[in-house]
Amino acid sequence: MTNGYFENKVAVITGGSRNIGRAVAAALVERGCRVVIGDVLDTEGQKTIQDLNSMTGKENAVYLHTDVTKYADLIALFELGQEQFGGVDFAFLNAGISVPNDIMLDDLDDEKDERLMKINTMGIIKGSKVAVRYISKRGGGAIVNTASTLGLDCTNYSSIYNASKHAVVGWSKSYTQLPNAANIRMNALCPHGTNTELLWKDFNEYHQGFHKTSGLMVDINTIVKAVLLLLEDEQYNGIALKALPGDAIEVEESPKVFQKIILASQEVKPEEIASNMVALEERAGSKFKKDLDESVQRYFQKSSI
Ligand SMILES: NC(=O)c1ccc[n+]([C@@H]2O[C@H](COP(=O)([O-])OP(=O)(O)OC[C@H]3O[C@@H](n4cnc5c(N)ncnc54)[C@H](O)[C@@H]3O)[C@@H](O)[C@H]2O)c1
Repeated sequence: MTNGYFENKVAVITGGSRNIGRAVAAALVERGCRVVIGDVLDTEGQKTIQDLNSMTGKENAVYLHTDVTKYADLIALFELGQEQFGGVDFAFLNAGISVPNDIMLDDLDDEKDERLMKINTMGIIKGSKVAVRYISKRGGGAIVNTASTLGLDCTNYSSIYNASKHAVVGWSKSYTQLPNAANIRMNALCPHGTNTELLWKDFNEYHQGFHKTSGLMVDINTIVKAVLLLLEDEQYNGIALKALPGDAIEVEESPKVFQKIILASQEVKPEEIASNMVALEERAGSKFKKDLDESVQRYFQKSSI
């Protein structure tokens, strides 16, 4: 990694009070980055920023109570980054929960059934909408959205968690035009099981059993390395990066479904489709850039009234 890359940059981290979020915050602060942590666990969050600030002897970390399901809270978190540190370069959207029950068998309850999707999926969709506005105002940066290996593959008994994390991967791979439009890269982080409360306290016993019997856990340091790579390395855009046992970090290869359909077709010339697609992408790219610029302007005009 480049020396000094994170120096004086600013990262917003959701779900940063403990475990993966906290470890990433610590790694960034160690590299000279300032961090703005948002979480619902206020006591742990305050303790985390105290620890980080005593590590550097400066106020390089701040905390704000943030419920990622609410735009007002997310906006306040990014505003804090701007007020306190002058802007935001990175967003690590990491807040998430698991549930112990198999939701298919639960009673039909709107609020209970939607809670996990609101935090794990909508929290990231809303968080990245806010992040794009602040990071593009800054001139560019990167967004990392925490999914899971359960966002790529599925086990029984964790159905709604699987669905929420597949959605995070889908969202994160859907904006490959962001670098051209706003100098922002967005990617999904897919850690395998690691030793945190989310796995041992909140997940069900079947899921925990997999990790107990296989012993296949990923070290939290591998996850931190993968996040730093996604924040820094410009080759990564619109991909899912796996953090795996054995300190392995791998890009999940795309199944290239569209490409295979084109190649398998007897009716069309692949070159013709390919050139149509390129033209479409190019048009979508310049239109997207214009529309994004307008959205960002509209947002900051409104918020300054
Ligand atoms: N631990 C694992 O095995 C594992 C594996 C793959 C992915 N993940 C994902 O990694 C992320 C971090 O998990 P972790 O293992 O560090 O667990 P964790 O429970 O320690 O961390 C999750 C954090 O998110 C916060 N949070 C929950 N709801 C929130 C809300 N509405 N608003 C703001 N913050 C909220 C929690 O308070 C907590 O601090 C999660 O998205 C999780 O799904 C974890």
